[in-house]
Amino acid sequence: MSNYKIAVLRGDGIGPEIMDQSLRILNKIGEKYHHNFSYTQGLIGGISIDTHGIPLTDETVEMCLASDAVLLGAVGVPKWDSLPGDIRPEKGLLKIRKSLETFANLRISKAYPSMLDASPLKKELGEDFDCLIIRELTGGIYFGDQFNDGKVAYSVMKYTEEEVRRIAHVAFKAAQKRRKKVTNVDKSNVLAVSQLWRAIVVEVAKEYPDVELNHLYVDIAAMKLVTNPSDFDVVVTANLFGDILSDEAAVMTGSIGLLPSASIGDGVGLYEPIHGSAPDIAGKGIANPIATILSVAMMLRYSFNLDVEALAIEKAIDDVLIEGYGTKDLVKSGSKSLSTVELTDVILEKI
Ligand code: IPM
Ligand code: MG
Repeated sequence: MSNYKIAVLRGDGIGPEIMDQSLRILNKIGEKYHHNFSYTQGLIGGISIDTHGIPLTDETVEMCLASDAVLLGAVGVPKWDSLPGDIRPEKGLLKIRKSLETFANLRISKAYPSMLDASPLKKELGEDFDCLIIRELTGGIYFGDQFNDGKVAYSVMKYTEEEVRRIAHVAFKAAQKRRKKVTNVDKSNVLAVSQLWRAIVVEVAKEYPDVELNHLYVDIAAMKLVTNPSDFDVVVTANLFGDILSDEAAVMTGSIGLLPSASIGDGVGLYEPIHGSAPDIAGKGIANPIATILSVAMMLRYSFNLDVEALAIEKAIDDVLIEGYGTKDLVKSGSKSLSTVELTDVILEKI
């Protein structure tokens, strides 16, 4: 029996309830495939500010670094929104990404047949949409010098050659396992930082002759995503551009409640749903656990190389959705609209 040590940061809002259900799924996988998953819990975001005065303590970071992977629920509650920059809940998220140096954020957006009616896209456009956005996560404008004296302000977007090189490799390797196409998204018609970015991506591409590479400026990419969604396979882009495009891609699938993400580097991986903490529905037992459960599947695949186990979860969710089950955000009415716990029960049964 293999052992895996997982740090669990449930976070704020709906984070705790969707994480608790996701761990039931993980335990089931453990039983069925004979793995032992053990958990240590830590605080992040608003709940950590309440308890420790800061959004993420160094002890919690240490705990994560000593684990085989980190699972995160969601961060942020309106009550803490007015706090000064440094103790906002989101800072906890940036600190854990940076501490684990998870430089590549993988966000998959794909059309689920049962969700096509909910997509803002015309049905025929959305049908073949299956895109993996690889967002640089520990550099760029999120981590550059910042300054604001009330009269002048700036945020610096800086990348080193090495930072671009390593994310480019992740993108080309991912494309080799998919439809072998990488779209590099930048703003190299204006920004020096993008000119370096593009030059390095072109250089790295030479090592992957089986992968087709093309380039788009970020404004055009935003447009093409909605007009020609099926043109996209793997997108590689800088931190801020990836933040924006991945929300756009997510909403095109019809439900942001279905989409997981993996943040990986050379060490411990971090797995979290793309959606936020949804404070308006927290504690009501109606939150959609699927994105977090799919994040667990990504953890099994990327951190533990357990592909069969990951597929078992993904297949169970596909089946449940095809049969029309879902939480309120997916299914408007009728007997197939389930609570967080009930939906997890149905997924457990399928596994
Ligand atoms: C995301 C979020 C975060 C980000 C926020 C909450 C800091 O939007 O994970 O995409 O901008 O990275
Ligand atoms: Mg975002």
